[in-house]
Amino acid sequence: MNHTEATTSLLQAFKQAGQGQVFSYFDQLDAAEQAQLLEQAASIDLAEVATLVDEHVKGEHTSAVDLEGLTPAPYTALPVNGGDATQWSAAFEAGSAAIAAGRVAAFTVAGGQGTRLGYDGPKGTYPVTPVSEKTLFQVFAEKIARSSERFGVTIHWFILTSEINNSATVAAFEAADFFGLKPEAVHFIVQGLVPAVDYEGKILLAETSKIAMTPDGHGGSLRALVRSGAVAKMQELGVDCVSYFQVDNPIIQCIDPAFIGFHVLGQSELSSKMVPKAYALEKVGHFCMQNDSALVVEYSDMPNSMQEETNPDGSIRFNGGSVAIHIFDRAFIARAGSTTSDVQLPFHRADKKIPYVGADGVIVTPDAANGVKFEMFVFDALPLAKNPVIIEAAREDDFSPVKNAEGLDSPQSCKEDQLRMFTRWLIAAGENVEVDGTGLPAITFEISPRFAVDQADFIAQWAARVDQPAIVDGLIIE
Ligand code: UD1
Repeated sequence: MNHTEATTSLLQAFKQAGQGQVFSYFDQLDAAEQAQLLEQAASIDLAEVATLVDEHVKGEHTSAVDLEGLTPAPYTALPVNGGDATQWSAAFEAGSAAIAAGRVAAFTVAGGQGTRLGYDGPKGTYPVTPVSEKTLFQVFAEKIARSSERFGVTIHWFILTSEINNSATVAAFEAADFFGLKPEAVHFIVQGLVPAVDYEGKILLAETSKIAMTPDGHGGSLRALVRSGAVAKMQELGVDCVSYFQVDNPIIQCIDPAFIGFHVLGQSELSSKMVPKAYALEKVGHFCMQNDSALVVEYSDMPNSMQEETNPDGSIRFNGGSVAIHIFDRAFIARAGSTTSDVQLPFHRADKKIPYVGADGVIVTPDAANGVKFEMFVFDALPLAKNPVIIEAAREDDFSPVKNAEGLDSPQSCKEDQLRMFTRWLIAAGENVEVDGTGLPAITFEISPRFAVDQADFIAQWAARVDQPAIVDGLIIE
C-alpha cells in the first residue's frame, strides 16, 4: 500500500523505537480507522515512552519511595491551635487585595472517573447538598460567583476534564446556563493521555485501530494548562495565583483569602493546605521533609508503622494530611508543565489488567495484571517549587470529600458535614440551633453558596438581611 510521506515517517519512527507492532493491522483498516490510529500515534511522545519503559518497566525498576530521612514538614498553625493571629490577619488582607486585583483564578481537577462512587457521569454532576441536591459543579460555580461578587471581580474558572468526560461535562454546564457564571470565564481543558505498555515495554493496542491510552493523572493538569493555552490566557488576564482543588470536595473554600495571602506574602511557587489526620491510617498523603525539600508521601507508599509513629506526648508524628488543596504560581505552572523544561513531574507506575489485541487480532481481556499504566501526581510538584508554604486548615471548613458510595467520605457523611458547617455559621451569627454531640442539627437545611462562602461572610450577610427566615426543616437560605 502507498502511504503519504507523513504516514511513512510516523510508521518508521514507531518501528525504530521498537514499537512497530502498533501498526500490525494498519493495512487491513479502512481509511477512517487508519486516520484514527495515525492521529493517536502522532500524539505520542516516543522518546518519553522509551524513558518511561527504561525507568519503570525494564531493568531494576523500583516503585518504592525513598523513606530515608523523612521528617514531618513544618506548617503554619491556625490561630486556634497556637498560630499567630496577627500573621493570619495580614495574610487575609494580602489575599483579599490579590483577589480584588484579579490575580486569582480557580482550577478544578475533574478528569477522574468516580469509579469508587459507582457513578457513571462526570463526578462533578453528582448531587451533594442536603436539601436542593445541587451538584458538585453547581456548588463550586456558586462559590466562585459569590467570591467574585464579594471582591468585585470576575474570577475565571479552569476545569480539567478527560477525553472520557469532557463532552458530558461541557453539556452539563450548557444545560445549566453555566450556573449563572459568564461562559467566557469558564475554561475546559482536556487532560493528556499516555500509552499503556506490556511487561516488555511494547505499546498495547486496545483495538486493531486504537492504541490503549490512559489519562496522565492529575499531575498531567500542569502540562494540560500549558498545552491548551490556559497559562497564556491567565497571563493575559493578569492571573498569577491558581487556586487548585479536587472535584470531590464540596466544602472547600474555593477562593480563600488567607490561604492566597500566605502564598503571596511567602513568594511561594506552590502553597498547600494541611489538615491534621483524623486517625493514624487515614488514606491521605503526608506532608514531609527530605533533604531540606518539602514533599508529599502517599499513604500507600508509607509503611503503616511509620504512619502510626507517635511523638513523646502521644500525638501522631506524621500528622500533616494532604487534602489536595493548593495555590500554584502561574509562572511555576508554565515551567513544571512544559515538557522541555528543567523541572519535570515524575511518572508513577501502576500495574493493571489492560484489555489488548492479541496476536491473532482478537481482543483479550486478561484476568491478572498484564501491563503498566503511567500517571503523574500533582503533589510531586512540591519538591520542585521555590518557597513552598504549608498552612493548617480546619477539616470542618475545607475537607469532606465524596469518594465512596457508603461510610467514610460518602455522600451521606458529606451531607452531614455540610449540615454541621451551616449550623456552626448560624450559631456564630447568634441563632439557636439544636445539635447532637457531634454538632449535627436535628433539622435538614442548607445555606446557598450564592449567599455566603464562609463563616465571616455568612455573619455579615445574615446581619444585613432584613427578612431573616425562621430556621426550620427544609429551609434554604439564599
Ligand atoms: C487523592 C490524593 C491524596 C489526597 C486525597 C484527598 C492521589 C494519588 N492522592 O486521593 O493524597 O490525600 O486525594 O482527597 O491523588 N483526577 C484527574 N485526572 C486523573 C486522575 C484524577 O483529574 O487522571 C482528579 C479526580 O477527578 C479527582 C482528583 O484528581 O478530582 C483525585 O483523584 P482520586 O483518584 O480520586 O484521588 P484519591 O485516591 O482520592
